[in-house]
Amino acid sequence: MHLPQVPRHVAIIMDGNGRWAAGRGHPRFFGHVRGSGRVKGIVREADRLGVKALTLFAFSTENWSRPDPELRILWSLLKKFLQREQEELLRQNVRLRVIGEVDRLSVDVRQVLEPAVERLSGNTGLQLTFAISYGSRKELARASRLFAEDCVRGIRRPGEMSEALLGEYLWTADLGDLSDVDLVIRTSGEQRMSNFLLWQAAYAEYVFTELCWPDFTPDRFREALEAYSGRERRFGGLVTRLSVPGETSGKGLKA
Ligand code: IPE
Ligand code: IPE
Ligand code: MG
Repeated sequence: MHLPQVPRHVAIIMDGNGRWAAGRGHPRFFGHVRGSGRVKGIVREADRLGVKALTLFAFSTENWSRPDPELRILWSLLKKFLQREQEELLRQNVRLRVIGEVDRLSVDVRQVLEPAVERLSGNTGLQLTFAISYGSRKELARASRLFAEDCVRGIRRPGEMSEALLGEYLWTADLGDLSDVDLVIRTSGEQRMSNFLLWQAAYAEYVFTELCWPDFTPDRFREALEAYSGRERRFGGLVTRLSVPGETSGKGLKA
């Protein structure tokens, strides 16, 4: 199947593990187990469809408020995922990185995470980013602090600040021209950003699905990309084809 327009950077809010499990009479952790099992297929499909960067929201700054037993399960699943999938990611030429407050993670998690990131850092294929203990507001506050410190040190002047320069102080700076998100997908029926990539997704398209993350298959991912493919991105400019909201087809406009 040919997609006329493939998003370069897709960001996914992998939500609904707990409700998925509860709806089947299982404890919440079971949803996290199934959810972590979904990641590998989506990574492979993203790569196959020509996506260049995939950012997965795995744990938010606000998720620290969850009960300790749930946190322990989440960290254990992250470690297991990295141990299990590292070889395959290496074979797929996937470059792995992490955005968020990595220094808040416990030593045992970092002992698995950091070598994995290091090992995959030389890869040149899909840029896979896990957002872990990530919050956009923290990211922007941190960027402001780092910039202010550079000004105090005399490396920067306040008047230099621009949209491009701010981007260099964000956790996503490494992604360079891929840091702008083209498509945000959120599972589980919620329609909010929950503090995810607020700056980077300023002009993203959104696909919300009722499916919970453990039910989100590569086929559903492809459908989200098909939906994106039919969108007209205007970035505040003028329309290139006339599509009237509420009507299924629009008349072409002469240039
Ligand atoms: C997403 O599923 C995983 C994380 C936030 C870590 P949830 O755990 O939020 O599941 P629901 O939304 O409560 O169903
Ligand atoms: C967002 O989901 C964070 C992740 C998917 C990792 P949440 O379940 O934490 O978001 P809210 O609380 O419903 O907004
Ligand atoms: Mg949730």
